[in-house]
Amino acid sequence: MGSTPPSKKFTVTIVGGGIGGLVLAIGLLRRNVPVRIYEAAAAFAEIGLGLSIGPAAHRAMPLVDPQIREIYDSLVTTHADSPGYEHFRQTWFEIVWASGPQEGDTLMNLKALPSGQTTLRRADFLDALVNLIPPEIVQFGKRLESLQETAENVTLHFDDGTTAVADLVVGCDGIKSKVKESMLPEESKQKKPQYSGMYAYRTVFDMDEMVEIVGDQRARVSTMYVGNGAYGISYPIMRAKKVNFGLYMLSEKWDHDEWVRPAKREDMLRDASSMGRYVKALVERMPDPSQWAIFEHPHISTYVRSRVAILGDAAHASTPHQGAGAGQAIEDAHVLAELLGDSNVTEPEHVVAAFKAYDDVRRPRSQRVVTSSKENAYLLCLCLDGVGDDADKLKETWNKRLRWLWDLDVQGQAEQARERMSEYRQV
Ligand SMILES: Cc1cc2nc3c(=O)[nH]c(=O)nc-3n(C[C@H](O)[C@H](O)[C@H](O)COP(=O)(O)OP(=O)(O)OC[C@H]3O[C@@H](n4cnc5c(N)ncnc54)[C@H](O)[C@@H]3O)c2cc1C
Ligand SMILES: *[C@@H]1O[C@H](CO)[C@@H](O)[C@H](O)[C@H]1NC(C)=O
Ligand SMILES: *[C@@H]1O[C@H](CO)[C@@H](O)[C@H](O)[C@H]1NC(C)=O
Repeated sequence: MGSTPPSKKFTVTIVGGGIGGLVLAIGLLRRNVPVRIYEAAAAFAEIGLGLSIGPAAHRAMPLVDPQIREIYDSLVTTHADSPGYEHFRQTWFEIVWASGPQEGDTLMNLKALPSGQTTLRRADFLDALVNLIPPEIVQFGKRLESLQETAENVTLHFDDGTTAVADLVVGCDGIKSKVKESMLPEESKQKKPQYSGMYAYRTVFDMDEMVEIVGDQRARVSTMYVGNGAYGISYPIMRAKKVNFGLYMLSEKWDHDEWVRPAKREDMLRDASSMGRYVKALVERMPDPSQWAIFEHPHISTYVRSRVAILGDAAHASTPHQGAGAGQAIEDAHVLAELLGDSNVTEPEHVVAAFKAYDDVRRPRSQRVVTSSKENAYLLCLCLDGVGDDADKLKETWNKRLRWLWDLDVQGQAEQARERMSEYRQV
């Protein structure tokens, strides 16, 4: 975009090129906002596991850039990819009992209207997004250590000893964000990412093997297995050629420095021993007993400070118990791209107002997602206060929570933020 006439007297510097950073960059480029990206890794990369995105983020995608939604829809797996399962097209998950007298029975068919379950392999999505980014705006191997702000600019310090000067910075550098640490030094010390009280075992099975283990319907229809103190989750990816599977365990403490640690097969088998026939059978076939600690971000007081903002997991890393983390990064990117792309925003000083408006609108929602995601872990482990293993209450609570998560007026958020921005501009 270097050759576009500069209607914007600033360049947005993005630190971190995960899903959040790339979606934001694409949204800004489409609005002719100059962008630069610094990424710590030697190349853009994601692990090959699955990702599920809910209806609100799905509606936000084309508003960021229609190409993002086209890419997503072209890669996505739905229940209609399994012949004979077209009538599950609008199903999000079937919820199946993994303990109690009804073990193995279906508690409910949870719908996500209108899109149904849509999943993909993370690496496929990231690779396709990368194709929309001009290579000359990206520098790899640049791991931010800290940044320093003056009245006129922000200096970035990288761990290779180099520095760079930016007009403004958006930290999309994930749960261990250095941008956040520099922006909120005191608060970051008190509010480090914290262990959420759960760890997981994860793998991807071939569909053939999955069908052999749990039968056709359980393999092909996305399923959450709810049990006492643990839950299992499976969903097809890659046009139903593969199935993403995870077992999540409630466990108060995590006494290890690493977030992913090798464990013994017998630990894994013991963890699954009370989880009903399907989960037990799947875990017996899992190749890797590594435990993944699930961390989350305590709520912080702001996502912005003058010329610096944070987005995605850097601001509000969530547990995955309602599949909403990446979706929140996409919703953030939509609001921020709309504000920075506004024809009225031309000077770096205008961006300060835009950042404040972004914080006003995005912080309450994304923090509530973090809280509700954590509660969902208890819901799925049949121990949420007031719900427990009561079938009617489980159904009602699920529906209520997902309605809140999914029924967002995504363009309304951007318009609300635009109004806030012009209020800030007038003072
Ligand atoms: C087990 C699990 C399952 C999940 N499942 C789902 C799901 O089904 N659906 C869903 O919506 N969400 C899910 N999530 C959440 C989702 O993965 C995250 O919310 C999403 O990846 C966040 O994207 P991001 O771009 O903000 O951060 P990240 O993906 O963490 O990207 C950060 C980027 O910044 C780079 N970086 C880091 N530090 C620096 C630095 N100092 N300097 C420069 N660059 C740096 C990194 O290399 C990386 O490229 C899940 C999370 C977990 C843990
Ligand atoms: C950054 O800001 C400082 C102080 O405000 C100024 O002295 C310096 O020249 C600026 N650097 C660039 C590259 O604009
Ligand atoms: C542009 O900004 C000015 C100054 O705050 C404001 O008065 C005006 O209404 C804005 N215009 C639009 C189209 O938002």
